Amino acid sequence: MYPLFLRLSGKQVLVVGAGPVAARRIEGLLAEGAVVVVVAPHGQVPDGCTWHRREFTATDLDGAWLVQACATPAVNTQVAREAAARGVWCVDAADATSSSAWTASRIAAADGVEVAVSGGGDPVRARRLVQVLGDALLNADLRRERPAAGSVALVGAGPGDPGLLTVRARELLAAADVVVVDRLAPRAALDMTHAQIIGVGKSPGDHTVGQDDINRILVEQALAGNRVVRLKGGDPFVLGRGGEELAACLDAGIEVEVVPGITSAVAVPAAAGIPVTHRGMATGFLVATAHGEDPELIGHLAQVPAEITIVLLMGVRSLEMVASVLLRSRSADTPAAVVERGWTPRQRTVVATLGSVAEQARTHGVQAPSIVVIGDVAALHDQFGDLARPSSGAGLIADA
Ligand SMILES: C[S@@+](CC[C@H](N)C(=O)[O-])C[C@H]1O[C@@H](n2cnc3c(N)ncnc32)[C@H](O)[C@@H]1O
Repeated sequence: MYPLFLRLSGKQVLVVGAGPVAARRIEGLLAEGAVVVVVAPHGQVPDGCTWHRREFTATDLDGAWLVQACATPAVNTQVAREAAARGVWCVDAADATSSSAWTASRIAAADGVEVAVSGGGDPVRARRLVQVLGDALLNADLRRERPAAGSVALVGAGPGDPGLLTVRARELLAAADVVVVDRLAPRAALDMTHAQIIGVGKSPGDHTVGQDDINRILVEQALAGNRVVRLKGGDPFVLGRGGEELAACLDAGIEVEVVPGITSAVAVPAAAGIPVTHRGMATGFLVATAHGEDPELIGHLAQVPAEITIVLLMGVRSLEMVASVLLRSRSADTPAAVVERGWTPRQRTVVATLGSVAEQARTHGVQAPSIVVIGDVAALHDQFGDLARPSSGAGLIADA
């Protein structure tokens, strides 16, 4: 078989048959922009194609660049014969050996890299190969050698364990020229890229590289033609100023992709055995920043009903003030937990009550980054214990 990549956009492709195999093929063809014409007396076809409900006739091949024969073996053989007579490539779904063309199993890696695999007529073997090659590609150096338009990907890196990075995040890291990284991203993510690393981490009270500078770096690096990954702890759009970075890039006419990440707001309580909702205890949760010293800025938290769990980020320094605001409406006995460095080997949890949590956190010397959880669910830590099993590479850039 001679490997080839086809640009099917706007090209007519005939599909004979309307069963599950045909449906999968049609979806793949439509995704590539092909003009799909289906011929089959009955069955089901996805939206977006033209369906002639009748038997195949040879003239159906007129105007087709390619035909997928997904009907009965007898019909497929007829389709293949007529296609060969007209010089049209035919994929006979049931007969890999005599087919004039064959659909490859496909691996789409980062940035337009495609790998097409043939299992030599054995689809199970092909799927195994896809798995092996897909895993290998995650660690390959996929940076471009030829100049291309720059772009920025705002990528959420999760709470600190590389096992909690998404597949898309890993693909983009493999293809990146430049990675602009926060202190709360997983340290191991830097081993997954061959890119130049630019650290712009802010720590509480130390904003050496301000947000305007970060926006400028992203825009400058992309305009210079680089594939930029902006790697951020957690999710880029949860208290991460991802929206501002997105706006700055779009204003500069740069192509931007957003890759959600696992937010610490949910993952870090989970690491400490605290589900943010729990039947009979909490019907919802509210995520807020406790950054800043002004009680007025968080006064609204006192209005939150007791059955809603409050999850506070950036809350260590202002914990005393926050607790005093919440004590206006919640009982001093309300369970409260502080989880430090979730999903890292240094994770630890302090469970107390709203009345005592600030003092307990001080006594134990709790530091940022930590998540504060206020509500009945916080007490579940005592029942469930720590649930995180950080992988060997887990840890934050801040702790490197
Ligand atoms: C600027 S916010 C960014 C939040 C991030 N975008 C997210 O979705 O997780 C930083 C805060 O997230 C929380 N945080 C992030 N990673 C954490 C971790 N591994 N353990 C505990 N808290 C964490 C802390 O409250 C920290 O101060």
